[in-house]
Amino acid sequence: MSNQTAPLNFYYSLPKVELHRHLEGSLRVSTMLDIAYANGISLPKSKFELSKLVQIQDEDALTFQNFLSKFNTLRLFYKSPEVIKRMTREAVEDAAKDNIKYLELRFTPVALSRAENFPLKDVIDWVCSSAAEAAKDFEIKVRLLASVNRHESPELAEQVARLAAENIERGIVGMDLAGNEVEFSAIPFKGIFKEAKQAGLQITIHAGEWAGAENVREAIEELGAKRIGHGVRVMEDEQVVALAREHGITFEVCVTSNYQSGVVPSLDAHPIPQMMHANLNVTVDTDDPGISRIDLSHEYRMIREELGVSLESLKECNLQAARSAFLPDDEREALIMIIEKE
Ligand code: HPA
Ligand code: ZN
Repeated sequence: MSNQTAPLNFYYSLPKVELHRHLEGSLRVSTMLDIAYANGISLPKSKFELSKLVQIQDEDALTFQNFLSKFNTLRLFYKSPEVIKRMTREAVEDAAKDNIKYLELRFTPVALSRAENFPLKDVIDWVCSSAAEAAKDFEIKVRLLASVNRHESPELAEQVARLAAENIERGIVGMDLAGNEVEFSAIPFKGIFKEAKQAGLQITIHAGEWAGAENVREAIEELGAKRIGHGVRVMEDEQVVALAREHGITFEVCVTSNYQSGVVPSLDAHPIPQMMHANLNVTVDTDDPGISRIDLSHEYRMIREELGVSLESLKECNLQAARSAFLPDDEREALIMIIEKE
């Protein structure tokens, strides 16, 4: 089995768990055109022209600056409660169609609120209610992570953390730190993440993606991360690899995203096989499926076929994602059973 590949429908049919997907990076281009038309946003009218602004193209510079620039255009669309609810519903629907059984969808309240000055509290309310309704309609389990950016204000992040803690019952299970890791430190956010953890939220931190292994150490030791977004540059420092193993840290690895944002020079240079080999807890995730034009099944197949990782190892990543879900023990055990059965 381990030397074979499998048809794409095999990867679709596999019941999957995804831990790292951004709502803002999941918007469908067809929905953007609808929103632009309904709200008088002046944008290219063709899908192709719009795609260039919001999705990575073959001719794009593969840099993190270019990757992050797509979010600036995407912010133009957050025009009304209806738009934000629709985005959330469609992100959940797309995951369900890819046979994802459990999705942790992260969203950035500051980004969603900015264009129209919506109160953070309202934005969080719309995402929570829409995600819960869509989860029921599309038969998928969904939990939410509130994400804040390093390159934005810690004061706003503090408000987000407080509101997230007030909405644990409504499905927000954790906090995430994202954004420009090259120019902005995580340390101004340390107190906020400490309080969030005390309030019962779990912590995942984008680190070791666009900057080195030291940021992975910082995320574990200073920010209280149980999971690391990306973290692939951990492989540059054996001591940090050992630290991550000791702490049982799980890595949310997004191979296509890493290629498109310039972390690795080619897909087949991606260190995910080495991370597995080093006995790190590795999961496979999409990051921003809309921007990257992928789904989770695509990532599994690509890692199998381009990187030569065995099907057994990929199934282990999927199971690891279930084990690392930010769920109470009983719900996590139930999820593991569903994934193991397959
Ligand atoms: N890194 C940091 N911030 C992000 C990313 C990422 O890969 N995707 C969306 N926000
Ligand atoms: Zn991310």
